[in-house]
Amino acid sequence: MSPGNLFADFTVLVVVVLAVAAPPVSGQRSVYPSANLSTLWVKNKVLDSVPYEDGLVRAIVLRSPQTSDLSFAAGFFCTPPCQEFIFAVFIFPDTDSFPVNKMARVVWCANQASPVGENATLELTGDGDLVLREKANGRLIWSSGTSDQSVRRMEITEQGNLVLFGQRNMTVWQSFDHPTDALVPGQSLLQGKMLRANASPTNWTEGKIYITVLRDGVHGYVESTPPQLYFKHELSRNMSQRDPTRITFTNGSLSIFLQSTHPGNPDESIQFQEAKSTQYIRLESDGHLRLFEWSRGEPSWIMVSDVMKEFLHVDDCAFPTVCGEYGICTSGQCICPFQSNSSSRYFQLVDERKTNLGCAPVTPVSCQEIKNHQLLTLTDVSYFDMSQIIMNAKNRDDCKQACLKNCSCKAVAFRYGQNDSNGECRSVTEVFSLQSIQPEKVNYNSSAYLKVQITPSSDPTQKKLKTILGATLAAITTLVLVVIVAIYVRRRRKYQELDEELEFDILPGMPTRFSFEKLRECTEDFSKKLGEGGFGSVFEGKIGEESVAVKRLEGARQGKKEFLAEVETIGSIEHINLVRLIGFCAEKSNRLLVYEYMPRGSLDRWIYYRHNNAPLDWCTRCKIIMDIAKGLCYLHEECRRKIAHLDIKPQNILLDENFNAKLADFGLSKLIDRDQSKVVTVMRGTPGYLAPEWLTSQITEKVDIYSFGVVLMEIISGRKNIDLSQPEESVQLINLLREKAQNDQLLDMIDKHSNDMVSHQEEVIQMMKLAMWCLQNDSSRRPSMSMVVKVLEGAMSVENCLDYSFFNANSVISAQGNPSTYSAPPQESILSGPR
Ligand SMILES: *[C@@H]1O[C@H](CO)[C@@H](O)[C@H](O)[C@H]1NC(C)=O
Ligand SMILES: *[C@@H]1O[C@H](CO)[C@@H](O)[C@H](O)[C@H]1NC(C)=O
Ligand SMILES: *[C@@H]1O[C@H](CO)[C@@H](O)[C@H](O)[C@H]1NC(C)=O
Ligand SMILES: *[C@@H]1O[C@H](CO)[C@@H](O)[C@H](O)[C@H]1NC(C)=O
Ligand SMILES: *[C@@H]1O[C@H](CO)[C@@H](O)[C@H](O)[C@H]1NC(C)=O
Ligand SMILES: *[C@@H]1O[C@H](CO)[C@@H](O)[C@H](O)[C@H]1NC(C)=O
Ligand SMILES: *[C@@H]1O[C@H](CO)[C@@H](O)[C@H](O)[C@H]1NC(C)=O
Ligand SMILES: *[C@@H]1O[C@H](CO)[C@@H](O)[C@H](O)[C@H]1NC(C)=O
Ligand SMILES: *[C@@H]1O[C@H](CO)[C@@H](O)[C@H](O)[C@H]1NC(C)=O
Ligand SMILES: *[C@@H]1O[C@H](CO)[C@@H](O)[C@H](O)[C@H]1NC(C)=O
Repeated sequence: MSPGNLFADFTVLVVVVLAVAAPPVSGQRSVYPSANLSTLWVKNKVLDSVPYEDGLVRAIVLRSPQTSDLSFAAGFFCTPPCQEFIFAVFIFPDTDSFPVNKMARVVWCANQASPVGENATLELTGDGDLVLREKANGRLIWSSGTSDQSVRRMEITEQGNLVLFGQRNMTVWQSFDHPTDALVPGQSLLQGKMLRANASPTNWTEGKIYITVLRDGVHGYVESTPPQLYFKHELSRNMSQRDPTRITFTNGSLSIFLQSTHPGNPDESIQFQEAKSTQYIRLESDGHLRLFEWSRGEPSWIMVSDVMKEFLHVDDCAFPTVCGEYGICTSGQCICPFQSNSSSRYFQLVDERKTNLGCAPVTPVSCQEIKNHQLLTLTDVSYFDMSQIIMNAKNRDDCKQACLKNCSCKAVAFRYGQNDSNGECRSVTEVFSLQSIQPEKVNYNSSAYLKVQITPSSDPTQKKLKTILGATLAAITTLVLVVIVAIYVRRRRKYQELDEELEFDILPGMPTRFSFEKLRECTEDFSKKLGEGGFGSVFEGKIGEESVAVKRLEGARQGKKEFLAEVETIGSIEHINLVRLIGFCAEKSNRLLVYEYMPRGSLDRWIYYRHNNAPLDWCTRCKIIMDIAKGLCYLHEECRRKIAHLDIKPQNILLDENFNAKLADFGLSKLIDRDQSKVVTVMRGTPGYLAPEWLTSQITEKVDIYSFGVVLMEIISGRKNIDLSQPEESVQLINLLREKAQNDQLLDMIDKHSNDMVSHQEEVIQMMKLAMWCLQNDSSRRPSMSMVVKVLEGAMSVENCLDYSFFNANSVISAQGNPSTYSAPPQESILSGPR
């Protein structure tokens, strides 16, 4: 690769940044070396086009040392076509060409794994945290994690170190401590830290190659399990047991120190050439560590040395990705492995025109067919990784056998001297580039064995055997099959019922099917009861780590087929405001449903003050109302098939840890076809929440809107709609509402337990108007659920001329019996019962 190519790839544009808190003053340099707390910077194209004094480009903090040709800045960065940006420290020649500066080079970066887009913000917050977000108050991308550490200001130093200073100029955080892929003069790499190369010259993502400082020197690895060592520079002097090792890049050399406390003389120094301060060193995606220097004459960056190659003597062919995966490097050329005495090809080039992208096995190696594994022999080929020695395989055959026995072994390299039976066997779990060697030059022999998957037919002798075997097997198999079929047909007649069970096991798109035993186990024999309804009880259980609610339907009359059909329908409905059906069980007469567990139980607990709980504040109530509305809206309007819930009431609204509300027991009601939406004829639901049209005519999803209106009033008033403990005239909430609405005394309806509610009177009254809209007698005058959502979002207002003469079907029905023990008329589906 020529240096010219390299630079073309790294061209980078510096992007304009506007300091919102400190607008630039015309005629003054507006970017300072330091910034104060509580400052926000936005990356914004529109604002960027404002012509600033120093052109189109601006950094966040910038410093131009007097003593050097180079300046450092921290700001937003991109590579063309500039859709994505990183927050970086970059180095650039402080020429007149700045700020339209194509000569900038990144030496540190905060967010290479997740670049940000337009309108991203960087903020030095009031509590001293440096925070990068997707947009203002958007997703957190990166942070220095320094809040509560008394940070006073941010500064870029003369060396290009981005520092957060605390009290008395103490360094709280610095970019030098978190190097990415480059070092600038004066920067150290401490023991345990690493430089990690990018994935490719055009891809900022972190790549697989890194170098790190360990106690005994500098090591270079390519990531895999375990990591493979491709480079190692061991200290020639004795290692200290106590002091950590570090390497420091000073102009012109890499110095290795065994103490980090005082600079002193390095324990070892790798001199490159004449000292210059206009340099930086970078680990590149091909694993090379290169030294770059600003040349004022050109003017451009030039690569002045390939440090690993020139000073640490790593061979060109010894880099892990020089020929891609499985490629063999022969003095800079790449070829695919092949077996000279065989016509079959086991490897092919990934890209015919680019041999350095490597090779891929024609048949991938599969651990399932371990008997079809063979080793492809490559003579005079070695592998770079020298770390994974198999101790008890000193001769060639043991080495090969060890690899064939272990599925994670993808190749072995066997290195030996004159005596074949005293070698070193190294196993490789992920094969990167191989290299061919000349034994007389390197003074050792080496063979590599690559594991390949053979297709059994490729071997002629085996083929013959297979044919004979195959014919015999086929005959036997046919015979056995005939017998099995005969038995099966007889059984089938006998056990029709049993067959039915099998038949439904594999319906596509179904929730998980559990055995009764499994559910008994996970609910600890149905011991923790969460609640009870007319049609069964709900128990708490645990499947793996997940808490679930298991509903056991009692007195199941429904056929398995109908049950499974309903389960399939419910299982296919997913929305954040609907309780998720996880699984079911249909075994013999047992019918169970497994739902996600909702830790705060049902809404009635919270609005009727059953548990001496504190009143919910207005904000939480609004959130719950919105959640219910969205859940219902989904069922009515967004689902593939229109679904009316038909049993909306607080008992069927469940709350999670954070008071997010979800509807339960939906879909247990009859589905309404989109075309003929008036189909329900049998009365159902729960008294108190029944719409007037239940008494008279055809039922549509508008009955849910009525019930929603009732629930809304309950949430606002903090009481049950039919409450026998109240004085006679106010037993029925809806009757009371009619009276108060007609007399303009709506304020009386607000929950008195909550001061927060009382202080939000205005908003509460608006919510009551929405409730009254939903309670209109004439179902066609009620809003649709999507209109309700719009009103709640403030995008629409409530209909003006409301009819306050709410007719109460529930008073008629409740007159027939005691409302608290009343149970609804026969249900169509056993699944549809209230909790
Ligand atoms: C930071 O604050 C100091 C004093 O409070 C002020 O002198 C300086 O100009 C401020 N720096 C910037 C970049 O606003
Ligand atoms: C960035 O913000 C501006 C103004 O606030 C806005 O007009 C523009 O649409 C936003 N761009 C993106 C991609 O969000
Ligand atoms: C901290 O550093 C700044 C600038 O480098 C300097 O002006 C200030 O005097 C220093 N303060 C202390 C307490 O050393
Ligand atoms: C960048 O590299 C990563 C990791 O190798 C890869 O997942 C991603 O697809 C690459 N992105 C582009 C744009 O090539
Ligand atoms: C290195 O140091 C250890 C103890 O720290 C000592 O035992 C050993 O002899 C030393 N080796 C050399 C080569 O100096
Ligand atoms: C770096 O180079 C400059 C001259 O360019 C020299 O003054 C300085 O002493 C050098 N630093 C080191 C650590 O060699
Ligand atoms: C090819 O040669 C290798 C060793 O040189 C030997 O082990 C293998 O059996 C040979 N394969 C064929 C198909 O002759
Ligand atoms: C298989 O090889 C891997 C990697 O070399 C090694 O970690 C593992 O212990 C080996 N397994 C056995 C059973 O030898
Ligand atoms: C390589 O092996 C051959 C015998 O197979 C032997 O003659 C030769 O000396 C070995 N070469 C080295 C460098 O050990
Ligand atoms: C090779 O080494 C083994 C044991 O280390 C020894 O028995 C054998 O004689 C040696 N062979 C040769 C040719 O040196």
